[in-house]
Amino acid sequence: MEKKTYLKVFDLKTLEALSKLEGDGYISNLTGPLSTGKESYVFKSVDSNGREVAVKIHRHDINAFKKIPTYLVLRGSKSGGFIRRINTWTRYEFNFLSKAFNIGIRVPEPFRVYENVLTMQFIGEGETNAPLAVKADDFDRSRWYDEIVGSIVNMGKAGFIHGDLSPYNIMNFKGDPYLIDFSQALKLSPSTLDYLKRDIDNINSWFIRLGFSGTLRSQEIVKMINKSYE
Ligand SMILES: Nc1ncnc2c1ncn2[C@@H]1O[C@H](COP(=O)(O)OP(=O)(O)OP(=O)(O)O)[C@@H](O)[C@H]1O
Ligand SMILES: [Mg+2]
Repeated sequence: MEKKTYLKVFDLKTLEALSKLEGDGYISNLTGPLSTGKESYVFKSVDSNGREVAVKIHRHDINAFKKIPTYLVLRGSKSGGFIRRINTWTRYEFNFLSKAFNIGIRVPEPFRVYENVLTMQFIGEGETNAPLAVKADDFDRSRWYDEIVGSIVNMGKAGFIHGDLSPYNIMNFKGDPYLIDFSQALKLSPSTLDYLKRDIDNINSWFIRLGFSGTLRSQEIVKMINKSYE
């Protein structure tokens, strides 16, 4: 994207953040966009080592901020304007993505977070990113179910929940499932158990729709995480 275009698309603080990341070698020119949502943009770039990166930018937009569910806003800074809160929210997303990566969940490798921008491994080839699992569903049902449920269980044991798990947040890259979008992730506790159950139900109903008959009962999966959460 040409520098002139940046100026039209981003607010000044976002431009400053991008410029800092560029100065530090984490990004260069942005290409794409790979995705333009109401709350965020995702671009492709290359870092100073020639590594391909995906750049997720949370919009500094008051209307986008108003849509962040209260339970998510409360986990971050309780004070400060919406810009600071969006930055905090971005850091939370990065921290949960890092936790997942560190315990061996198949996710894009996290590289850097600064203000409202996070960079991570680009999942795809050339200028094209990998398709979402909702579209590219030509995978081995049983292997994918085991891996995704295994990831839910391991994240649960590590104390957190993805929070928005669905085939819209799973990419199919070279036949393997990559979990993305940790923007709704949260700590697991008795009071957030419903979000864990929602993730499990989403995955189960998706696999049932795909004709897979080996889904496990949600209670059973919860029990694998912690017997006291039955
Ligand atoms: N690491 C990545 N590599 C390639 N493409 C990516 C990567 N991360 C995200 N994308 C693309 O960008 C899209 C949007 O990303 P993501 O799901 O994280 O954000 P979102 O749903 O817009 O965000 P939010 O829920 O935070 O508003 C994805 O569906 C995917 O196509
Ligand atoms: Mg998403």
